[in-house]
Amino acid sequence: MVQIPKSEYARRRKALMAQMVPNSIAILPAAAVTVRNRDVEHAYRQDSDFQYLSGFGEPEAVIALIPGREHGAYVLFCRERDPLRELWDGLRAGQEGAIRDYGADDAFPIADIDDILPGLIEGRDRVYTVMGTHPEFDRRLMEWVNQIRAKAGLGAQPPKEFVALDHLLHDMRLYKSAAEVKVMREAAAISARAHLRAMQAARPGLHEYSLEAELDYEFRRGGARLAAYGSIVAAGRNGCILHYQENNAPLRDGDLVLIDAGCELDCYASDITRTFPVSGVFSAEQRAIYEIVLQAQEAAFAQIAPGKHWNQAHEATVRVITDGLVRLGLLQGEVDELIAQEAHRAFYMHRAGHWLGLDVHDVGEYKVGGEWRVLEPGMALTVEPGIYISPQNEQVAKKWRGIGVRIEDDVVVTRHGCEVLTGAVPKAIDEIEALMAAARGARA
Ligand code: GLY
Ligand code: MN
Ligand code: MN
Repeated sequence: MVQIPKSEYARRRKALMAQMVPNSIAILPAAAVTVRNRDVEHAYRQDSDFQYLSGFGEPEAVIALIPGREHGAYVLFCRERDPLRELWDGLRAGQEGAIRDYGADDAFPIADIDDILPGLIEGRDRVYTVMGTHPEFDRRLMEWVNQIRAKAGLGAQPPKEFVALDHLLHDMRLYKSAAEVKVMREAAAISARAHLRAMQAARPGLHEYSLEAELDYEFRRGGARLAAYGSIVAAGRNGCILHYQENNAPLRDGDLVLIDAGCELDCYASDITRTFPVSGVFSAEQRAIYEIVLQAQEAAFAQIAPGKHWNQAHEATVRVITDGLVRLGLLQGEVDELIAQEAHRAFYMHRAGHWLGLDVHDVGEYKVGGEWRVLEPGMALTVEPGIYISPQNEQVAKKWRGIGVRIEDDVVVTRHGCEVLTGAVPKAIDEIEALMAAARGARA
């Protein structure tokens, strides 16, 4: 399976430490285990920042990075080996594994953290940490600091400054390395196969969950353990519910089905949307709306290159969609005026995309110093225009109501433009119709 190499985690820690002020410490916790019901837990997924710096997938762990520390800068607190727990729950790296396999300079049992970590914080001027996202960790950090304060009379020096780690870390995460792009390409390829399979399986009489099963099959078969987010399989008017999750309605002849789904590989997300007819053939109205969305996406791709700013792609989609809706008579007026009034928002109420990475809606600032961020090579984002005509929209003729179309691909900014990672799923109308006709033929 394609994975981030261990050496890259070391590079990331080094790069972060190079940005920390002298005599400081960075501390961050693993994701907490969350209970689903009684003694059943939700599938464990490491915290993205923690994963980014360690590749260490276990819960109950804390990273401390202490540039200049005599016995090594990278300290990992983690669970001890425990034959009984490992018999029931699976293997643990333990402290030896943390050093041998994960590059820690020093490792301690998590059970000893209250005794050891305050000593590592003591005397450091500044603490970099995540704030507000792990409330139990925030509370414990204050306890550790209070332990130091309690000894101030003996000369102990509590830290003076607490700085959110996000600024440094999230800016690093925004720029994807060659290894990250490789993993994201593979995640995208698995998700593309999943969409293709769902498209081939679709037919009236099945349900939305039938197609979700096809997606899951390809995700798991490709080595992805989880979907990067709850798959959206939305038939007919459900396609107008942006984050539809029920996935239990029947697929009806004459309806479109919108699938927004992507797997996660080595914690990296992919995020693809395709919209296609259940029967395999677009109606005239579906075709008209679909063509506008596809054109909008093409226009957006042309605005993704180094030197272009973040919002240019969005602006391009707004122009194409507004113009298209006017041409179809779904909006009335002059295009520039309608754009100024944001008239598209009744039909296109989200943005053209978001950063993509360890989180599906990845970290990284969209504006810097009040200005839209200028794109640079290595930034990964989605391009996902859509048109959703509410079933309740009485301003438009009935034949349009309930049509929801989104087309979404993942791209990485390259030196001269962008690379589309998810291009393996067809999206031109004739390609989709041909693919579905071939699948129907093979079933007959
Ligand atoms: N799947 C959520 C999104 O497209 O942003
Ligand atoms: Mn998306
Ligand atoms: Mn999506």
